Amino acid sequence: MIIRGKSLFLRPLEIQDAEKLSELGDDMTIYKFTHIPLPFTVRKAEEYILRSNQLMRKGRRFRLGIVLQETGELVGTLGLEIEMPGEHKARLFYWMGKPYRGRGYVTEACRMLISYAFSELGLGKIIIRCATDNRASQRVIQKLGGKLEGILRKDSFIAGKWRDALYHGLLKEEWVYADKHMQEKMEVMIQDGR
Ligand SMILES: CC(C)(COP(=O)(O)OP(=O)(O)OC[C@H]1O[C@@H](n2cnc3c(N)ncnc32)[C@H](O)[C@@H]1OP(=O)(O)O)[C@@H](O)C(=O)NCCC(=O)NCCS
Repeated sequence: MIIRGKSLFLRPLEIQDAEKLSELGDDMTIYKFTHIPLPFTVRKAEEYILRSNQLMRKGRRFRLGIVLQETGELVGTLGLEIEMPGEHKARLFYWMGKPYRGRGYVTEACRMLISYAFSELGLGKIIIRCATDNRASQRVIQKLGGKLEGILRKDSFIAGKWRDALYHGLLKEEWVYADKHMQEKMEVMIQDGR
């Protein structure tokens, strides 16, 4: 499965990505706000890739690499987790390597994956949970048009600390509206066997 956008494409992670993934993910901010361990060694990155692809085959979790169209460089990852099989909703998660942040890549990648989830996976709602002190992620959610639905107290224990989370939702019907106004030019390519 490859999802192509304007400046990025999303593709499944491959074992050969482990070194680059470890380089990108071995970072305090990522550790603080995600479940990526620190240090994120090449060995850990390999396990992460193998587990991701296993869960993807079961249709439970889609974790894809974010790749620059121009250079083919892997710069981050994002994914969707369908907590209960058959549910109409999935949780969106993402992280970006430090040198590539602030260029709009995660927002673009999320738009591509959300459009894919609504049009190809038949989902009706995307959920995004982010820590109350994660300003960059909150800005991404705002740009995507996520609506705040509540605050989850002591939602996760990460990096030695309990964290409250903001719970945001995006509905398919709202997305059609947002998409029209963003005039995103997105091409979805599903390639057999990937
Ligand atoms: C959150 C994260 C994925 C954003 O990636 P990114 O590629 O920089 O995202 P974008 O460039 O699309 O958008 C980031 C926005 O946040 C803004 N931002 C960054 N740091 C900020 C801060 N401290 N306070 C407020 N806004 C901030 C940027 O200016 C940008 O907004 P703009 O386009 O209006 O200028 C990245 O910072 C990251 O990987 N963080 C660590 C892991 C993480 O937090 N994952 C999400 C868990 S919920």
